[in-house]
Amino acid sequence: MRRILVTSALPNANGAIHLGHLFEHIQTDIWVRFQRMMGNECYYVCADDAHGTATMLAAERLGTTPEAMIESLREEHADDFRRFHVEHDNYYSTHSPENEHFTGTIYERLAADDRTFTADVEQLYDPERKLFLADRFVKGNCPRCGHDDQYGDNCQECGATYDATELGNPRSLLSDATPELRSSKHYFFDLAQFTDFLKDWTATEAVQTEVTNKLAEWLTGGLKAWDISRDGPYFGFTIPGTTEKYFYVWMDAPVGYMASFKNLCDRTGGLDFEDFWRSDSEAEVHHFIGKDIINFHCLFWPAVLRGAGYRTPTKVHTHGFITVDGVQMSKSRGTFINAGTYLEHLDPEYLRYYFATKLAANTDDVDIQLDDFVQRVNSDLVGKVVNIASRCAGFIHRGFDGVLGAKVHDVELWTAVSDARHELADLYERGDVGRAVRQITALADRTNQYIAEYEPWKHVNDPDRADEVQGVCSLGINVFRALVIYLKPILPAMAAKAETFLQVEPLAWEDAGAPLVAHEIHRFKALFTRIDRKDVDKVVAATVAEAETEAGNGAEEHSQHVSIDEFGKIDLRVAKVLAANFVDGADKLIELRLDLGVSQRTVFAGVREAYDPTSLVDRLVVVVANLAPRKMRFGTSEGMVLAAGPGGEDIFLVSPDSGAEPGMRVT
Ligand code: 2FM
Ligand code: ZN
Repeated sequence: MRRILVTSALPNANGAIHLGHLFEHIQTDIWVRFQRMMGNECYYVCADDAHGTATMLAAERLGTTPEAMIESLREEHADDFRRFHVEHDNYYSTHSPENEHFTGTIYERLAADDRTFTADVEQLYDPERKLFLADRFVKGNCPRCGHDDQYGDNCQECGATYDATELGNPRSLLSDATPELRSSKHYFFDLAQFTDFLKDWTATEAVQTEVTNKLAEWLTGGLKAWDISRDGPYFGFTIPGTTEKYFYVWMDAPVGYMASFKNLCDRTGGLDFEDFWRSDSEAEVHHFIGKDIINFHCLFWPAVLRGAGYRTPTKVHTHGFITVDGVQMSKSRGTFINAGTYLEHLDPEYLRYYFATKLAANTDDVDIQLDDFVQRVNSDLVGKVVNIASRCAGFIHRGFDGVLGAKVHDVELWTAVSDARHELADLYERGDVGRAVRQITALADRTNQYIAEYEPWKHVNDPDRADEVQGVCSLGINVFRALVIYLKPILPAMAAKAETFLQVEPLAWEDAGAPLVAHEIHRFKALFTRIDRKDVDKVVAATVAEAETEAGNGAEEHSQHVSIDEFGKIDLRVAKVLAANFVDGADKLIELRLDLGVSQRTVFAGVREAYDPTSLVDRLVVVVANLAPRKMRFGTSEGMVLAAGPGGEDIFLVSPDSGAEPGMRVT
């Protein structure tokens, strides 16, 4: 039996769990569940990545402490994952005593071995906010092409990468002040000392070939020392022996994997931390990550572990970037979908199944297509796999008291299905889950053809063919059972319902090696229903509405002055509501027909949770009359009505005093 510790990248404690996180955590969870079904001892830990300037500023904006903010987000994140059946053994936080202990210990060991040094670094400093500015908190002119409004690390216009100190006319995004150049002492990890070790390690099976090649570019270019400190104020751990120097968030983040596991060991008892982390450990450690963070996981992290006398990872499983319908996830397109928004309308296992069809052992980017999502679930999972059970179970009950036959009717078909467990196990182990799902679907196709050939529905009342009907339908049920086993890492809830239907104990992988014979099963109840495309549209519409609300709230925080001329460009008019109606498929919108005096307009307003449409008829509102028309799925919105409040039920339409007439300009 293998002993395995598994992790997914730690989500940042500054936003909701979205499709991108879910892809990685579902991928990891499938691998973990597969290992457990194989009888291996497997633990899955994760945590929120809590530290950094962004956390500190977000808490400040919310008027709370970083500690309170990260704890509430941690609970929300853990809950979102749980609702997607992602079964972490521990979901912790990097802001924990265990993490402070391990990060400090690792640093002290590295320092004692001369793996670290200090040097003065010049950086941009915000004199108003009194802090050093990370690259994303400063903008200015690109030092190469001169384009303005570029961040401190790279130019969106010409692609140049540079140091924030090279920006022309820099300004702080936190205060709008002109930053000063200031020098301060920083702590460095001397990564170059580990070049030979990393050249060997990255050429092993610990990383995928494409990753080895990418890392080779950095390794041959020469490794630079890694700046592991940040000056205060900063939300993080102070470096031992200092007061105002903090560990850079990326120093303690991967240590969070160890800390979460240590917390699990202490909480549950009977598990020995050192068994998994000492340098000669025989247990395995697997990290699942996206390809944007391979430098941290395949260079810094193994070097830090090596330098501090711990074991290195057994394997880093890297996946590609996620796009939706061919483009980056976007809030305004409604494709930057949060876990909670999805769950309001759709079953989590639909997504688990669809993601599984997309999983591969390589680092290619993954495109999620909403039409394909509906199609794969409905036609493959429901139409092919579940269909086998729903077709066969009725006949077993009608003619045979719910008892399966004593013999396998078609040995060749059963052997093909049963033997597939070996190859499918290899595919799961390698992470080639998409290929496994295609093979499972092909076995379902073959079985449906076999059932169709014998047409049990025609012969169920023919006593001469009773054995055949029982044999065919029993084999159908047995194939279904094997396919449920093969899909169980992906669809744990569906598998649990199937186990009840089959009247069996929780299925393990090797159970596919032998059929159920002369065994009584329950009556069939629907295990899985088809996706209604309208529910997918609801998720998209809800995501768009969230983006609009966020944009509204953000305006207040980031408000800057506008000139009277700029304000004058906005044509605000009084309008009278002629008709107001619900919009099918959009539970946040009301369609308004407005009278603007000289013309009429249709406007979609996100006020449905706050108003009953009939109460709006004849009411005066204020409308942005020269807003560019916006095409929505339900029609074109020809303007925008003004409303105050955060959204949802708390939204209040703005109206002029009585006496105002439709069409009057609002100034
Ligand atoms: O990229 C991210 O979202 C990081 N929070 C991942 C950290 S993974 C690990 F190193 F902690
Ligand atoms: Zn440029």
